[in-house]
Amino acid sequence: MMKIKVNENYSCLKESYLFSEIGKKVRAYQEAHPDKKVIRLGIGDVTLPLAPVVVEAMEKAAREMGVKETFRGYPPEYGYDFLREAISAYYKRNGVTVPAGDIFVSDGAKSDVGNIVDILGKNTVLIPSPVYPVYMDSNLMNGNRIELLEAGESDGFLGTPDLLDGETYVIYICSPNNPTGAVYDRAGLKAWVDYALESGSLIIFDSAYEAFIQGDYPHSIYDIEGAEKCAIEICSFSKMSGFTGTRCAWCVVPASLETEGGYSLKKMWSRRQATKFNGVSYPVQRGAEAALTEEGIRECAALVEYYMENAKIIADTLRRVGVWFTGGVSSPYIWLKCPKGMSSWEFFDYLLENAQIVGTPGEGFGEAGEGYFRLTSFGSRENTIEATARLEALLKSGV
Ligand code: MLT
Repeated sequence: MMKIKVNENYSCLKESYLFSEIGKKVRAYQEAHPDKKVIRLGIGDVTLPLAPVVVEAMEKAAREMGVKETFRGYPPEYGYDFLREAISAYYKRNGVTVPAGDIFVSDGAKSDVGNIVDILGKNTVLIPSPVYPVYMDSNLMNGNRIELLEAGESDGFLGTPDLLDGETYVIYICSPNNPTGAVYDRAGLKAWVDYALESGSLIIFDSAYEAFIQGDYPHSIYDIEGAEKCAIEICSFSKMSGFTGTRCAWCVVPASLETEGGYSLKKMWSRRQATKFNGVSYPVQRGAEAALTEEGIRECAALVEYYMENAKIIADTLRRVGVWFTGGVSSPYIWLKCPKGMSSWEFFDYLLENAQIVGTPGEGFGEAGEGYFRLTSFGSRENTIEATARLEALLKSGV
């Protein structure tokens, strides 16, 4: 028997990560019912192929890697300048200034969300509920004190700092929110930035779904004055450009983020990445760069539009069967209230057993998600139509 010590904080975690748990249940169901066609509208994984301009850039880059004169070894750990510049220019399109030097390219928003805790000490962390479970899990792993900011139907799933008493927090904000699709307007985000500046807090802003925003809402926390003094932003090519399998994202850590004691978060993040990360491959970064050209943005917007049409199909079905829902407008997710007073895992089993549809139980996004359920619009059109037809028939059958 080994005598080493382990990170006992892991015992505070649930047995499995939410989407692993769902995967396990679905595999078990499929093994027991090999003849049934299961439709997966659970994890938010894209199904459309990469945009042509992205594929072309990646092919070209892969060929360069096969030629002595253009071959490249280790990529810079913070990302190639060409991609950092392209991301900075992408912000500029929305009138937001983010210097290329403050942008750190990575292999995913999930990695950045999970890793950022490395440079932070023992703070109290404020996490919205319901929200993407990685915020909670990575802070549990670090043994941090966690407070939940519960949001619900009455506040449009948009928590505010109104009832906070000025305590210093690390505050997580996800807008558009995963799973509810709720989006902060400028006044809503400004309230958070003002709170952070006054209380000496740090905001970790997850904008992974910004490409889905419809209407005049901020796409970045840096749209708000003063955010560069209190916020880190994490964004990803996964959902905006279909990179879930290709892997590329970025994290903005402004040079102006300084803590008492003279610590620069940018310097610390640079140091952390240089030590623990070896960058994203050259062909992938060229593909990401291509996704941010005019042509790339147009082609990727067509992918987003396709998914939003799926969202509309799901939303129309729910309206017909009289199920309350929100989201599906500035977000690829539909957040619905479980019918017949079912708990979210009961509804998960009910849908899988009776209609062979996989969704995500709201409880997996935090206690405030109990009684709700998330469906993703990232499926194929064909599967979305089939799944909604099954859902409608099931809910109308009264089973
Ligand atoms: C989700 O389904 O919430 C996301 O796809 C998970 C992720 O982005 O890691």
